[in-house]
Amino acid sequence: MKPKVFVSRMLPQSALDIIKQNCDMELNTADVRLSKQELIDKIRDKEGLLCLLTDTIDAEVLNSSPTLKIVANVAVGYDNIDVKAATQRKIMVTNTPGVLDNTTGDFTWALLLAVARRVVEADKFTRAGLYKEWGLQLFLGADVYGKTLGIIGLGRIGQVVAKRAQGFDMRILYYDVVRAKPEIEERYKATFVDKDTLLRESDFVTLHVPLLPETTHFISTRELNLMKPTAFLINASRGPVVDEAALVEALRTRRIAGAALDVYEKEPEIHPGLIPLDNVVLAPHIASASVETRTKMAVMAAENLVAGVTGKRPPNLVNPEVLQ
Ligand code: GLV
Repeated sequence: MKPKVFVSRMLPQSALDIIKQNCDMELNTADVRLSKQELIDKIRDKEGLLCLLTDTIDAEVLNSSPTLKIVANVAVGYDNIDVKAATQRKIMVTNTPGVLDNTTGDFTWALLLAVARRVVEADKFTRAGLYKEWGLQLFLGADVYGKTLGIIGLGRIGQVVAKRAQGFDMRILYYDVVRAKPEIEERYKATFVDKDTLLRESDFVTLHVPLLPETTHFISTRELNLMKPTAFLINASRGPVVDEAALVEALRTRRIAGAALDVYEKEPEIHPGLIPLDNVVLAPHIASASVETRTKMAVMAAENLVAGVTGKRPPNLVNPEVLQ
């Protein structure tokens, strides 16, 4: 008998095929987010759960299934899962690291360039039929090349962003809890500085940290006040890393020049103060959303799921202590 698994949302066919070949799969074909109770009902008799970052897998959900062995998340971040509770119950948790670094790094640059060069505002203006004549002062933005880029979190994605910055002849500062190896610093010509120096000196501050208690509201009023009035904040990590109310205030009063956000504090809710502002670019959490990368992420999660329910070690286990 094949192990029973539940897949909480539709996936690309190649990922579904991997699961179907190895498991007795129940799929949420409606592809709408399930309530906590619905999720609990679905996993009661399952050995594996494949879920998205929009599914909250807390202790109550984990404790509801006596048979659950693995939760395979289709995301690199896994702050939607209570890993501690999973570990206590010897439930494996997996993520999808590596495959989305380049795509997320590319999108970080899309956000950065969009806000600096006012691409979204200019698009709206042009569509509205307002472009009557070339203007010397029309949509003046900020130069990107030659400026200082401050990267908070020089992990895999932060390094991709740094690599792309070489082409823009930027000076690169970074801050991380652990200083990178000398060869990494050398490769990206990245200078390690403390958080406040980075905020004071950067023209663009970009966030690439996981969501942890220590990174929650990592950027709040104090930090925004340290930034240059001409500086921009880019966030393609997790929403709660930025205190959204403080950011709204800083953008509204032009304390900083602008921001570009892919993530929000209470996703999918957006702070109402952000909506009317023209110095912020807003995207619906799509940094890893290319056809190729989202397919790779789903396949990777499917492989983790299958490994976990067939007695193999999943390649991307985030709580290896469960196997000890
Ligand atoms: C997306 O946000 C991810 O964590 O993969």
